[in-house]
Amino acid sequence: MIDFIILNKFYFFIVFSFLILLLFFYLSKRKVEKKYKLHLEKEIREQILELRKKDELLIAQSKLAAVGETLAHIAHQWKQPLNQINSVVLKIETDYDDKVLNQELLEEHLNEIEKLTFYMSDTITSFNNYLQPNDKKEIFSIKNAFDDAYELVYKLLESKRIESKVVIINDSLVKGVKKEFVQALLVILNNAKDILEERNIKKRKISINIFSKENKAYINIEDNAGGIENKYFKKIFDPYFTTKPHSQGTGHGLCMAKMIVEKSMLGELLVTNQNAGAMFSIKLNKMEEYE
Ligand SMILES: Nc1ncnc2c1ncn2[C@@H]1O[C@H](COP(=O)(O)OP(=O)(O)OP(=O)(O)O)[C@@H](O)[C@H]1O
Ligand SMILES: [Mg+2]
Repeated sequence: MIDFIILNKFYFFIVFSFLILLLFFYLSKRKVEKKYKLHLEKEIREQILELRKKDELLIAQSKLAAVGETLAHIAHQWKQPLNQINSVVLKIETDYDDKVLNQELLEEHLNEIEKLTFYMSDTITSFNNYLQPNDKKEIFSIKNAFDDAYELVYKLLESKRIESKVVIINDSLVKGVKKEFVQALLVILNNAKDILEERNIKKRKISINIFSKENKAYINIEDNAGGIENKYFKKIFDPYFTTKPHSQGTGHGLCMAKMIVEKSMLGELLVTNQNAGAMFSIKLNKMEEYE
C-alpha cells in the first residue's frame, strides 16, 4: 500500500513537473512571439515610412520629368517656325537692300511672321491640353488637318527644292485633338524634308495620299530619300532616338507622333520602306458624321 502511494506520488510529481514545464514553454514561447510581433510591427512601420518617402520622391521626379518632356516637346515644335521666322526676317532685309520692299510686300512678310507666332503660341496651349487627360476631342477632316500642317511647311519645302504631290482619293472624318494631329503630320513632313536634304537627293519628292477603306481612314506620307536602315527600324519610334547631330535632333518627334496617333486617337502609325524611300502610314477609325 505504502509502495503504491509512493509510486502514485512519483507519477503525480512527474506529470505535474511536465505540466509546469509545458506551461513554462508556452509562456516563454508567447513572450518570444510577442517580442517578435512587436519587432515586426516596428519594422513594417519603418518600411511603410520609407516607402512613403520613396513614393513622394517618385511623384516629385515624375512631375519634373513631365515638365521636362513638355519643355522638350515645345522646343521641338518651335524649332521649325523659329527657322522660318528667321528666314522671313532675312528676306525682308534682302528685299530692302534690293529696293523692292514696298508696303504690300512688307505686309505679306509680317503676316507670315504673325501666322507663325500664332502657331507657336497654339503649341503651348495644345501641350497644356495634352497634359490634361480630360482634354476635349473633336471630329475633323483629315484633309483639313493636313492643309493646316502643309500651310506651315510648304514654303520651307519649296526653299529646299522639294516637290510635294498630294492625292486625295477620299477625305474622312476622324476624332481627336486636331492641333495634336497637325503636329504629328508636321513631325513626319519635317523628317522627310531633313532626310532628303541630309542625303542630298537630286529630285526630292514627298507624296501624300489620303484615302479610306471600309471603316478606316488613311494618310500615307512617302519620300524618296532611300528609306530607313534596317538596324534602325525597331528604334525609330523610341524617345531620344536620333541619327542627327545633337544640336539638330532631339529624337522626340516620332515618339510624340506615335503617342498622338495611337494613345490619343486610338489609331496606328507604322513605317515601311518602299521602292524609293520611307513611307509613314497613319490608320484611324473613320467617323460617320459630326457628333
Ligand atoms: N523619312 C525618313 N527616312 C529615313 N529616316 C527617317 C525618316 N524619318 C525619320 N527618320 C529617322 O528617325 C530618326 C528619329 O526621328 P525623330 O523625328 O523622332 O527625331 P529626329 O528627327 O532625329 O529629331 P527631332 O526630335 O528634333 O525631330 C531620325 O533621326 C532619322 O534617323
Ligand atoms: Mg524629327
